[in-house]
Amino acid sequence: MERTLVILKPSAIQRELVGEVISRFERKGLRLCGIKMMQLDDEILSEHYAHIEGRPFFQRLKDAMMITPVIVCCWEGLDAVNVVRTMTGSTNCRNAAPGTIRGDFGISTQENIVHASDSPENAEIELARFFKKNEFFDFKKISFDYLYANDEV
Ligand code: PPS
Repeated sequence: MERTLVILKPSAIQRELVGEVISRFERKGLRLCGIKMMQLDDEILSEHYAHIEGRPFFQRLKDAMMITPVIVCCWEGLDAVNVVRTMTGSTNCRNAAPGTIRGDFGISTQENIVHASDSPENAEIELARFFKKNEFFDFKKISFDYLYANDEV
């Protein structure tokens, strides 16, 4: 089973979309294996967004991520990274398809409601960045046998 990181950004908190976003991932059948509220600081954000250091919006994006606490979640499922990215939609909400989280709730590239890991490799790195090992929880969803055929998992 694959795990991925989702961050509910300050735009999700301020726009009261926390329940809506979490509910979408739950209804999809993903398993919530970790969740917490965190106040991010410049240090962790510089690491998290190191791949866009040097872009003109780098500091502005980091500042926007510190305006409120965020909610970090770990979601697990078959191909979870791809499933979550598909549900999240394009980075720029204005281009995101209707039915996706960004397509339904956003109109900005920076204030795009959620961050979602873009590859299994990055998901592992990002989960380790935001969670301690004892903050992940293993349990079997009672719906498991109705989410997957036994040759899929
Ligand atoms: S992606 O999906 O991670 O590949 O998207 P990418 O285009 O690389 O964007 C990475 C994050 O940068 C933010 N971003 C911006 N912020 C402010 N202004 C502009 N112009 C801008 N362009 C991209 C974008 O919201 C991505 O943040 P996360 O938290 O990863 O969604």
